[in-house]
Amino acid sequence: MNNHKLIEEAKRAREHAYAPYSLFKVGAAILTKSGTIYTGANIENGSYPLTCCAERIAIFKAISEGDCEFSHMAVVADSKQPVSPCGACRQVMAEFFDDDVTIYLANLNDDIVSTSISKLLPNSFNLTQIKQ
Ligand code: THU
Repeated sequence: MNNHKLIEEAKRAREHAYAPYSLFKVGAAILTKSGTIYTGANIENGSYPLTCCAERIAIFKAISEGDCEFSHMAVVADSKQPVSPCGACRQVMAEFFDDDVTIYLANLNDDIVSTSISKLLPNSFNLTQIKQ
């Protein structure tokens, strides 16, 4: 699947965002090596810290289905520059993504940045540091 199709899936998912507080809707779509696409949209809460980003929802949907090998991901928002994932989402990506997982960051104008988790979160804390 090409990046444009995955970005279109992320745009479609974005329509389901629940963002009455920030009004900033984000969509994500992730393709696993099994060929399945999982999507996510940000879901906010009146107790603000309970908000969950689109990226984590998509990743957690895949993991909770036992589908843990990722191929590539797209994230889309109505931002001037391609949307940049928050620190919490980068840490979650670092947990589950090998560095060959391409991450496409996009906006609604189809400006696209192609990146990887080691670029987004270099020198991350990870399991290898716990399991000596
Ligand atoms: N948000 C995401 O869903 N993903 C990002 O990459 C950036 C931020 C959400 C969280 C919150 O609902 C809103 O965007 C504003 O921060």
